[in-house]
Amino acid sequence: MSIGIVGLGYVGVPLAVAFAEAGRDVVGVDVDYARVAALSGGHSPIEDVSDERLARALDRLRLSTRYADLADAGAILVCVPTPLTRNREPDLGPLLAAARGLAGVIRRDQVVVLESTSFPGTTREHMVPLLEESDLRAGEDFALAYSPERVDPGRTDHTTRTTPKVVGGLTSRCTERAAAIYADVVDEIVPVSTPEVAELSKLLENIFRSVNIALVNELAILADRMGIDIWEVVDAAATKPYGFMRFDPGPGMGGHCLPVDPFYLAWKAREYDLSMEFIELAGKVNQSQPYFCVQKIERALNETGKPVKGSRILLVGVSYKAGVGDLRESPALRILELLRERGGEVSYHDPHVPELAEQGLRSAELEEALGGLDLAVIVTAHPEVDHGRIVEQAPQVLDLRGTTRHLGVPQL
Ligand SMILES: NC(=O)c1ccc[n+]([C@@H]2O[C@H](COP(=O)([O-])OP(=O)(O)OC[C@H]3O[C@@H](n4cnc5c(N)ncnc54)[C@H](O)[C@@H]3O)[C@@H](O)[C@H]2O)c1
Repeated sequence: MSIGIVGLGYVGVPLAVAFAEAGRDVVGVDVDYARVAALSGGHSPIEDVSDERLARALDRLRLSTRYADLADAGAILVCVPTPLTRNREPDLGPLLAAARGLAGVIRRDQVVVLESTSFPGTTREHMVPLLEESDLRAGEDFALAYSPERVDPGRTDHTTRTTPKVVGGLTSRCTERAAAIYADVVDEIVPVSTPEVAELSKLLENIFRSVNIALVNELAILADRMGIDIWEVVDAAATKPYGFMRFDPGPGMGGHCLPVDPFYLAWKAREYDLSMEFIELAGKVNQSQPYFCVQKIERALNETGKPVKGSRILLVGVSYKAGVGDLRESPALRILELLRERGGEVSYHDPHVPELAEQGLRSAELEEALGGLDLAVIVTAHPEVDHGRIVEQAPQVLDLRGTTRHLGVPQL
């Protein structure tokens, strides 16, 4: 049976390659022509999938911009984005466009699985009516399930294969059929009774992270005022062998998931006369964290008698997390903007982000960037960056990630 993947991004590409490596023929479809052309040419846009690995997979992986190419696939996995609108409401546009596209091609007995993160009810209330425009009945003529993606870009200790996969079908037969598809590439399948359970389980995972990050970030602000080292506090608490899970403070939340997904649920909850206080509060605390970081930068410069205005400040690491080049919702961009508003002369160094086109900046070579500098701020600590050298050569360093604590550098 061949596999169709709709949406070739951080989720779709690793999945397509995993199925190709498991010996399946795979068809990947994306609306972005440039992306399809790059992938077909063996250029992977995703750090977790090397060009070499992609090139090997291309024996079994065909890329296309046409939904019609999915007609012969036994299963179609939908991995399109689920962003927020400008007013921070769910934007189901890409997902609904994918469902409309699929309605024109799906066949009897195919299995369709939605992987994109969304609120409970998305599969049943939004996908089903559009897919059924094919004149086929979901759960009868074709199987439909929701199975959330849990990929964590940049992580190497857990892979697609070793990360259990939750699957909730429209019917128990749908769950079984979808589970059988994933058994090729995942060791453990976790069947649940409905798509809604699977949809909410994904949001619980992300909201759990968002709330705990907000909690430790708020504590970092208090610890700063009280003159207590938050990192030492977290280290100490983390020695408890049960009932505590470590979360580190940082410059705020980024990526496509944590700053976005919880608000899908908050929006849906309003339909049930419920305001999701934890979600809103965590969002508020995490969104304000870059402002606290800028205060720390102002204080650091003040210690050497300098204002932000006219100071040369190097941001080290601008993607939202270590080891990847993803800039979506990155708190570093907000810090950069706030420093510029205050007249700072900001440059950056990030081996994963060659250019910030909107800001008119290119990643500076470290050697060059460290000359004539007033302050280096470690915003995202990529493993390949020599932070020790930055500490040695920069006149002043502020570390928002705790990487250089052992060197006595001021931390968040
Ligand atoms: N990035 C992550 O770490 C991660 C982890 C778990 C779950 N998710 C969820 O998975 C989904 C996809 O996220 P992503 O990070 O892979 O997004 P992405 O932006 O990296 O990739 C999505 C791709 O879908 C394509 N696309 C958009 N509309 C399309 C359409 N109608 N038909 C075909 N292709 C279309 C885009 O061109 C893009 O290449 C989201 O719902 C996200 O919340 C993401």
